[in-house]
Amino acid sequence: MPARDFVVGLDVGTGKVAAVVAQMDQEAPNIIGVGVAANKGMRKGVVVDIEGTARAVQDAVGRAERMAGVTTRSVYLSIAGAHIASFNNRGVVAVTAEDKEITEADVQRVIEAARVFNLPSDREIIHVLPREFIVDGYDGVRDPVGMMGVRLEVEAQIVTGAVTSVQNLLKSIYKAGLEVDDVILAPLASGESALQSAEKDLGVAIVDIGAGTTDVAIFEQGSLWYAGVVPLGGDHITSDVAVGLRTPVNQAEKIKIECGTALAEDASDDSMVSIPNMGGTGKREISERMLASIIEARAREIFGLVANEIKKSGYPSVVPGGAVLTGGTASMKGVLELCARSLDMPVRLGTPRGVEGLKDIVSGPAFATAVGMVLFASRDRSRAQVMKRETRTGGSVFGRIRNAFRELF
Ligand SMILES: Nc1ncnc2c1ncn2[C@@H]1O[C@H](COP(=O)(O)OP(=O)(O)OP(=O)(O)O)[C@@H](O)[C@H]1O
Ligand SMILES: [Mg+2]
Repeated sequence: MPARDFVVGLDVGTGKVAAVVAQMDQEAPNIIGVGVAANKGMRKGVVVDIEGTARAVQDAVGRAERMAGVTTRSVYLSIAGAHIASFNNRGVVAVTAEDKEITEADVQRVIEAARVFNLPSDREIIHVLPREFIVDGYDGVRDPVGMMGVRLEVEAQIVTGAVTSVQNLLKSIYKAGLEVDDVILAPLASGESALQSAEKDLGVAIVDIGAGTTDVAIFEQGSLWYAGVVPLGGDHITSDVAVGLRTPVNQAEKIKIECGTALAEDASDDSMVSIPNMGGTGKREISERMLASIIEARAREIFGLVANEIKKSGYPSVVPGGAVLTGGTASMKGVLELCARSLDMPVRLGTPRGVEGLKDIVSGPAFATAVGMVLFASRDRSRAQVMKRETRTGGSVFGRIRNAFRELF
């Protein structure tokens, strides 16, 4: 198959690496290969072991390639983790044409103007995403090209990451023998696959509870309004279960998934769960309710911090479309209800949509990001809004790092 006919979406998460190969010559991306590998090289969404992460990437991509019967050179890579931050900035330019008709060039200039601010040297820009344009003081303009005006402004959401965390992630990919087509913020990808466009227009929060972190993003009028991260996820629930029940972490993970629920009031006092002791010496029994109370305490803490993130975002009102929960932990029993109570808004489960082919394999909420990456790749071809990252001095940061690493590996 010619290289241009397919893309690979790669979600490098704290718990797992997921690779999705999709054919792009059809109306919707057609999934022809999926590979998943456990990842032990990350903490809280940040690479702490380059070798380990590279191995997991190789495993996941290798499996997806074998299923698809293709060989890949490059991937669309998602980025997340506790180092991600986002804020709003405004750019202003004068419309240059004599007839005062706004052109694509004016739009590019105003977006460039929005990226002029004091960025600390240890941070780099990942995305500059226009929220809205303002033409001669009239706000709420989505596409100003063709409009008449003298003053063009943009309200843009700037997403930044820690340079070292971005570099370590890229280094793992290059070490795995792959190149990077583009880097996309994970919740932006999850938003592509798990949100409906009507929700994104109205205003909606997407909450991705993974293994190491919980990503929070708000969309409004079709664009990203805010992105934040809570540095807690399913791993913390597992570790509470391990400590609380004095059982090894791998057993705690199994017990959590098989018998856990996030709402203690729904769990039975009479159904018992068998808990292996530390050191493999015998078993004890505890009630499902006791297990649920450990899980609920941590899940409440996570959703409390999610509520703080939403508050911190400065979103001016109640989020009208409510929240959509994705990520592996969204599969836990009772978690939607607990989330709805904690955030005081309607909550639904977000599963990836909009693809064809082997979509059943990636139908769970843990695959929202990986599937979103191929959707993003397909839409990105015609989307001019998402700016490729460039430094203020010009030249792509990723390009420079990529070239530097290519020489190393
Ligand atoms: N059925 C289930 N019930 C409860 N928890 C589950 C279930 N299935 C998966 N999980 C949890 O989901 C988490 C993994 O989610 P996911 O695959 O979305 O994480 P990740 O993308 O690798 O990590 P991150 O996004 O935080 O970097 C693990 O903590 C796992 O225990
Ligand atoms: Mg994830």
